[in-house]
Amino acid sequence: MKFTVLTLFPEMIEQGFHTSITGRAAESGLLSLRCVNIRDYALDRYGHVDDYPYGGGAGMVMQAPPIYRAYQDAVGERTIRPRLIYLTPQGKVFTQAMAVELAKEEELFILCGHYEGVDERVLDEIATDRISIGDYVLTGGELPALVLMDAVSRMVPGVLSNEESGETESFMNGLLEYPQYTRPEVFLDRPVPEILRSGHHAKIDRWRRNESLRRTYEVRPELLENIELDKEDRLFLHSLKAEAKKE
Ligand code: ADE
Repeated sequence: MKFTVLTLFPEMIEQGFHTSITGRAAESGLLSLRCVNIRDYALDRYGHVDDYPYGGGAGMVMQAPPIYRAYQDAVGERTIRPRLIYLTPQGKVFTQAMAVELAKEEELFILCGHYEGVDERVLDEIATDRISIGDYVLTGGELPALVLMDAVSRMVPGVLSNEESGETESFMNGLLEYPQYTRPEVFLDRPVPEILRSGHHAKIDRWRRNESLRRTYEVRPELLENIELDKEDRLFLHSLKAEAKKE
């Protein structure tokens, strides 16, 4: 996967990306990152890239020409236009399913906005997708870009050392992940659940499935509407609901 990020803060993207798992995958050649500093394409020698909004109002708007020039330079001689994601709270909310889908691309361009927004005309021209990382407003698109790149990268084959870990964790089966434990066996008088030390794999699997169901039911019940439940799942959920009624 080749990422190209158009940003006013390339050092922030570089730092975040070249750390931990994505950094290791970049070293091994599975991922690559190219940052393009939009300020290098400013129209004046002072490096101005923003201006007042037409129609008035608070804040500044990023101008179209510097972004477009940065984009054209980054696209180069390609005949097929790359997929370009603009990160914005006005986008479609990012999900694991979107991460899986984007990971199939060979290359992704990402545009990080700043100030109050970006001139709509350049977005209409170059953005193929508009994505939000959640219903809250950040000061810029750099952190969302890092979030998106991280989630997409771990779905690229070979990036995670144990390929399975991508499959079994939260959301891959539509449920929240079950609780995990490691040594010591007792911590602040809290022992590890007995069943996990039993060596009985079928029972451990069932216990984990139930704990996933419990967490999802308690914290994100709406997720249960979109997944296939077997008979044992339904029985367990029924007992949770009965318990909740008693309380
Ligand atoms: N830029 C500012 N806030 C954002 C958000 N929640 N998602 C994506 N981009 C953003």
